[in-house]
Amino acid sequence: MKVTASAPGKLMLYGEHAVVYGSPCIVTAVDQRVRVTVEPNGEGEIHVCSPNVGLDEYHKKISKLGKDDLPKSMAFVEMLVKRVYEKFGLKTGIRISTESDFSTQFGFGSSAAVVAALAKALDLYFDLKMTQKDIFQIAYQAVLDVQGVGSGFDVAASVYGGTIYYVTPGDIIESVWEGNLPMVVGYTGVKADTPTLIRQVAELKRNEGWVESVFADIINLVNKAKTLFEKKDFVQLGKLMNKNQKLLATLNVSSVELDKMIKGAKDAKAYGAKLSGAGGGDCMIALTDKKYSKEVMEGIVSAGGIWMNVKTGAEGVRLEK
Ligand code: PMV
Repeated sequence: MKVTASAPGKLMLYGEHAVVYGSPCIVTAVDQRVRVTVEPNGEGEIHVCSPNVGLDEYHKKISKLGKDDLPKSMAFVEMLVKRVYEKFGLKTGIRISTESDFSTQFGFGSSAAVVAALAKALDLYFDLKMTQKDIFQIAYQAVLDVQGVGSGFDVAASVYGGTIYYVTPGDIIESVWEGNLPMVVGYTGVKADTPTLIRQVAELKRNEGWVESVFADIINLVNKAKTLFEKKDFVQLGKLMNKNQKLLATLNVSSVELDKMIKGAKDAKAYGAKLSGAGGGDCMIALTDKKYSKEVMEGIVSAGGIWMNVKTGAEGVRLEK
């Protein structure tokens, strides 16, 4: 028996940082996937092969899951296996292999995608009959076990796919758009350090009263964006991206590279542009009239960015033949 499942990466559209404190956000799944295969392993232990993160062979006794040495690249896989094995009283050894369409450097949420795909593969392999919600919850729990912080928006995108309105810890998950968006994506070439940026914003929030009003503005714009998707009003959705970017800049999470690329996109007639995710690096996104896509792309590249050829609204976690 051999089971393969895959899950998409994600891009945050509106509402990052504030979402950590219970505000809504809008996130889209991208057509770049992580695939996880589960198969038998006679040795009564977990055997992981993840060449995409530079780890060819990793062994762990089932009784030692989550204990002893836990290499960073294996932490998400191991904690997900631990959670599922404990919940369902499993003891059998398995071999897990992972592969990815995208680099862990881009900020597409490889950790969330790997736990989502692994949960789905384990579900079929052991016939656990988990619902989509069960898969989301156990995958989000594994992410929290490792990171300690995070809203779970990335796990929601990997599990449910599409473009969704999300409120942590997953009580509200609603589709706002079907299919691809008229969006151009640029990568800064710089890896963002999400947990550090979350802590920086938390500190700012503790010390500065005005941060609450920035979060209130973010809640308003995310809710407005939700209604603008219904109206298919990408001009106004672009303006909201600009507004969201200004608010994120006041939280000190933008960067010189992001600012330059955002300006490049806007100068090339994008409706609007912003950073996507924690900030400090990773990717920026720009909404544009399709007829200016090429110019927006060029604007981003001349500003020092790397154009990413991705489509949005991708399918959530699924089994692969
Ligand atoms: O850095 P990313 O792409 O994982 O995005 C982080 C978004 C935050 O809102 C800052 C954190 C979170 O978990 O929601």
